[in-house]
Amino acid sequence: MSEPILEFEDVDITYRTTGDSDVHAVNSASFAIEEHDYFGLVGESGCGKSTLADSIVGGLDDNGEVTSGKIRYKGEEIQDYSESEFNKKIRWKEISVIPQSSMNSLDPVMKLSDQAIEMAKYHTDLTKAEAVDRLRELFDVVGISESRIHDYPHQFSGGMQQRTIIAFSLFLQPSLIIADEPTTALDVIMQDQILDYINDLKDDWDISMLMITHDISIVFENCDSMAVMHGGQMAETGRVVDLFDRPRHPYAILLQNAFPDVRFPDRELAVIDGHPPQLLDDPDYCTFADRCPWAVEDCRRGAPDPQEIEGDADHRAWCIRADEMEDLAADHLAPATGETSILEEDT
Ligand SMILES: Nc1ncnc2c1ncn2[C@@H]1O[C@H](COP(=O)(O)OP(=O)(O)OP(=O)(O)O)[C@@H](O)[C@H]1O
Ligand SMILES: [Mg+2]
Repeated sequence: MSEPILEFEDVDITYRTTGDSDVHAVNSASFAIEEHDYFGLVGESGCGKSTLADSIVGGLDDNGEVTSGKIRYKGEEIQDYSESEFNKKIRWKEISVIPQSSMNSLDPVMKLSDQAIEMAKYHTDLTKAEAVDRLRELFDVVGISESRIHDYPHQFSGGMQQRTIIAFSLFLQPSLIIADEPTTALDVIMQDQILDYINDLKDDWDISMLMITHDISIVFENCDSMAVMHGGQMAETGRVVDLFDRPRHPYAILLQNAFPDVRFPDRELAVIDGHPPQLLDDPDYCTFADRCPWAVEDCRRGAPDPQEIEGDADHRAWCIRADEMEDLAADHLAPATGETSILEEDT
């Protein structure tokens, strides 16, 4: 297999606070995104998704730091890059970000065409006219009339602003796009439309995608591989088809049960009780243990190591009982009927 475009190996990320304890937002994160893959990162609010994404482009808040582990982009270690190194080598050209609060990421007092010219000035040899032409082409890609390129951001609806951000994220032809909750602020119809645009990029552009969301069904429908996080820890990673058919971490299983599934049209949607712990200490226990119906003493005695799931390539669950889950959670898992799943219908 070719080298992953992005790889996390045992990465810890901590925020210093003014209190007694630091926030251990991400602990021992490990996963790899293969070239051209769309990779979904899913987990509930506060589990560390944006922290993880920010660390890839040097965008952590000032009190945040990668304290151990390695982040490799195209094989090169980038976890110790300075802000200027990130800006020079990585941001926009290699990796661009569609941020969680993208409504604010356009300059409200600058015409979009001027924002394109600015971007081109700092990162390319394009002339002003070429930069504007490029934006025109990209507006076409995201379905906005090119006659709007001289507008100000506030003249656009939320969905158009989001499509504009996608256009800008493509401006320097990056290899990887990080989309942090790209549709959360939009209504359902616009969400579908934006996801369609993001999916179309896959065919026409040579990119990989890290798509962050709290909605596991978005990942199932749009991604090739995925990771589930809970309480600052990895829960499960692997190919989407494998996690869809054979989830082996209790949180991934319950999360899947919390969203509608065509295989269980009559199933009541599950609610996952409780909350993840506040990560004020280095979690030397499974952060899902207090919410897990199948937890045992040992789950609280150490952070779980990843277990390889037999028969699946690159499928791992951070649960000491992963190999028992098929039996323990039988009521929650899809029956092995061999019926076509929604994933297979799509391909
Ligand atoms: N600058 C900061 N200082 C201290 N703690 C922080 C800081 N930024 C984030 N955190 C904490 O780190 C943890 C992870 O936050 P993060 O924003 O990465 O979560 P998330 O999974 O992206 O959540 P959401 O789905 O709500 O966007 C949370 O407990 C959050 O409160
Ligand atoms: Mg976030």
